[in-house]
Amino acid sequence: MAYIVVATGNAHKVEEYRRLLADQQVELKSLLDYPGFPGVEEDGADFRENAAKKALAACKYCDVPAFADDSGLEVEALDGAPGVHSARYAASDPERIAKLLEALRDQPNRRARFVCVIAIAVNGEVIETFEGEVRGTIVEAPRGAGGFGYDPIFQPDGYEQTFGEMPGELKDQISHRADAFRKALQFVEDEMSVLDDDFC
Ligand code: IMP
Repeated sequence: MAYIVVATGNAHKVEEYRRLLADQQVELKSLLDYPGFPGVEEDGADFRENAAKKALAACKYCDVPAFADDSGLEVEALDGAPGVHSARYAASDPERIAKLLEALRDQPNRRARFVCVIAIAVNGEVIETFEGEVRGTIVEAPRGAGGFGYDPIFQPDGYEQTFGEMPGELKDQISHRADAFRKALQFVEDEMSVLDDDFC
């Protein structure tokens, strides 16, 4: 079977992508399968640059088609912060959540969106990038133990639950990652045979 590498060592993301790819004739590997991968500094100016950099590095290192995402949370009242710095906003998930809630204390505007950009690299070149988003609000206090990152404080529009309270399968249908991934998959199906055995 053909395979593709997702350029992440984040087991939560790998699990989400594995579910998203469940119906495809392709096996998903990740950087967890390549422990020698030297890593990439995520110093790009935006999600697109970081995703492209990670996909290219993984494609070259693993010598197979690769994709990468870069994602984060943009909060309207904070002028889009933490944005591309979401992972480095504080030292741990609970500290990131606490810092964000403190920054929004007494703030009536709690609008936010998760953004995800996926880049695909084949034969040592980034061939395309795709952006997905999900809009919602930041709740007053964390709810739910599911998911990861900022999930317990993000309530997507049209739902009563935060991402932390939702079953993974529901998050998969509406998340920024699912949105970007659907666009990427459509592109692969329409335009390319990048997942064909020839490439692997
Ligand atoms: P990166 O895309 O691995 O650079 O990580 C971006 C950071 O944004 C993560 O470490 C999380 O803090 C946050 N993030 C991205 N996607 C999600 C999500 O689906 N749920 C919660 N937090 C997320």
